[in-house]
Amino acid sequence: MRLRKRHSLAAVPFFILALSCNVAHVNTTSAAEAEVNLLAMGDWGNNGPGQKLIAKTLSQYVKDGDRKFSAMLLAGDNFYVKLSGVKDPLWQTMFEDRYDPSVLNFPFYASLGNHDYKNNQDAMEIDYTKVNPQSRWKMPSRWYRVDLPSDHPIVTVFMLDSNKPLMPEATWQAELTWLNTELAKPRKANWVMMCAHHPLFSNGDHGDNGVLQKEWGPLVQKYKVDFYLCGHDHDLQHLEVPGWNASFFLVGGGGATTRPMRVDKRGPFSESQMGFADFNFTPTRATVRLVDSAGRILHEFEKLKDGKSRVLVSTASDRATPRTVKSITRGDLPVGASTTKPATKSLDD
Ligand SMILES: [Fe+2]
Repeated sequence: MRLRKRHSLAAVPFFILALSCNVAHVNTTSAAEAEVNLLAMGDWGNNGPGQKLIAKTLSQYVKDGDRKFSAMLLAGDNFYVKLSGVKDPLWQTMFEDRYDPSVLNFPFYASLGNHDYKNNQDAMEIDYTKVNPQSRWKMPSRWYRVDLPSDHPIVTVFMLDSNKPLMPEATWQAELTWLNTELAKPRKANWVMMCAHHPLFSNGDHGDNGVLQKEWGPLVQKYKVDFYLCGHDHDLQHLEVPGWNASFFLVGGGGATTRPMRVDKRGPFSESQMGFADFNFTPTRATVRLVDSAGRILHEFEKLKDGKSRVLVSTASDRATPRTVKSITRGDLPVGASTTKPATKSLDD
């Protein structure tokens, strides 16, 4: 089932990224941008059949639609494979060529996953941005802000590094200070989104993350962040959590092998599926679609600025699969431990 797109054609944005600071300056050809369309995925860079399938589906999805997209948001685990440096041919085959530049012709704003920290590839991913300013690959620093469009933003996205155990404490605190400062500024955009690799809440294999709930949760709440976008678990999820204004979307289906759900009492949607998200923002309405590897819309959600929200389309969420000794992938959880309890030790699995 492929659903008809209901939204009108937007003006074509043109992007210029400033690489020297934590703000991506985005210029557009139109001063009166009526809407912003974004794609999002995480956990994609394994150079395997899953990545290739999702890349192909993304192209077809954009070609079939009647909208122009402003950007792709990458929620980390960009490269599971080992890179030798910024000149490694895998940059060409796994990114530049894999995501058809004739169709997906917009910036790919990237955040760092735990796998990106292996082999010092975190630094390579930032360096590649600097030495290839013509590339769609954009990671000007470990954390940065993207305003879309820049002059009168409809949405501000904070691209963040959630790898607390993998970075020096001073770096983590610097990011926290920066994020607090940015969020405290007068809000220009209608919508604010945070994008990072690790979830605060997840029905998937890694479960909830008490570290991020404690560190970032107060900012999400205080500044009424509208969306928290992440990956890490290899599935597609939309969670509404009592007491939280933010809607939590997990888009870890970019190509890596999927994992089963461990929680099924929370929703409205969680499925062990490869795929991606499609965000449509207008000043008053945000519409999010979770799309599977065949281009089918599994779940569609609308959130209005007046506080109302509703699920427009959905399919049945997966039933949770109990953990077994073999299925445990986290060293910090005992067999049979509830994944709804906050993790307090490790983010790095
Ligand atoms: Fe991953």
